[in-house]
Amino acid sequence: MMWHRPGFTLGGAREAHLKVRNLSAGYGPMLVLRGITLEVKPGLTVILGPNGAGKTTLLRALNGLIPRGGEVLLDGDDLPEKTHEIVKAGVALVAEGRQLFPQMTVTENLELGAWLVPKAERPRRIEQAFNDFPKLRERAQQLAGTMSGGEQQMVAVARAMMCAPRLLMLDEPSLGLAPRMVDELLSIARRIADAGTTVLMVEQNVKKALAVADRGYVLERGALVASGPAKLLARSTVVREAYLGAASSETTTAARAVQQTVKESAHV
Ligand SMILES: Nc1ncnc2c1ncn2[C@@H]1O[C@H](COP(=O)(O)OP(=O)(O)OP(=O)(O)O)[C@@H](O)[C@H]1O
Ligand SMILES: [Mg+2]
Repeated sequence: MMWHRPGFTLGGAREAHLKVRNLSAGYGPMLVLRGITLEVKPGLTVILGPNGAGKTTLLRALNGLIPRGGEVLLDGDDLPEKTHEIVKAGVALVAEGRQLFPQMTVTENLELGAWLVPKAERPRRIEQAFNDFPKLRERAQQLAGTMSGGEQQMVAVARAMMCAPRLLMLDEPSLGLAPRMVDELLSIARRIADAGTTVLMVEQNVKKALAVADRGYVLERGALVASGPAKLLARSTVVREAYLGAASSETTTAARAVQQTVKESAHV
């Protein structure tokens, strides 16, 4: 296993392994997720699914932003319920829409991400961020709100990495970006996973996400309908017909797809 591969220095000292059993979550009386069981192993796991499936709800529940039922174990220990304790346990979320402070500079946004880091250590951490994201160094003093979408997404990822998380959760990092930036953000996610931080990523860019991921799950209407190694998932009927636009002789829709678990191959 490769930790802190040259070229990427931020990240936790040990890769996280998350086990989710029978997770439920929703908003008030409305239950969105019903009995989700999944595993996020070291490497890059992607969650696919149509709009409204509950992907963001899943990340919000895992980050303590909404209450959850069921069991969530981080390296065998119960994941805390409060967000700040979850962050201290080594889990970071880059939320949908980035949530940067537009009137603050790149450096100031990064500093805000380092709230868990002792003050004396922060300048070194920011230097690491600029080494890991060289494009941001040139933009250190630029107001975040004046950056392009892709650059802002990069700041959001770098900010999340400032606390050296062991599990990084990304909610649609490529949303609204031009194809070249999509590739760049997905390759950053891959590099972070390779450098030793477990990554759980929600993506609607199915083909590209499966190309960089190790494993994937497909979520539809609050339930998992398929899972398996990314390469096999890309070839599965559920994904090909519903997400990759493959021709189908049947009128199989994703919503009616039966649970299809692609057998884990030995090397995954
Ligand atoms: N704050 C909220 N209050 C009430 N219902 C919500 C709230 N946020 C989301 N929902 C509902 O929960 C369901 C799942 O939403 P969620 O945002 O998790 O979907 P998603 O898979 O992330 O979709 P998208 O791909 O559009 O981001 C939807 O029916 C949505 O309307
Ligand atoms: Mg969402």
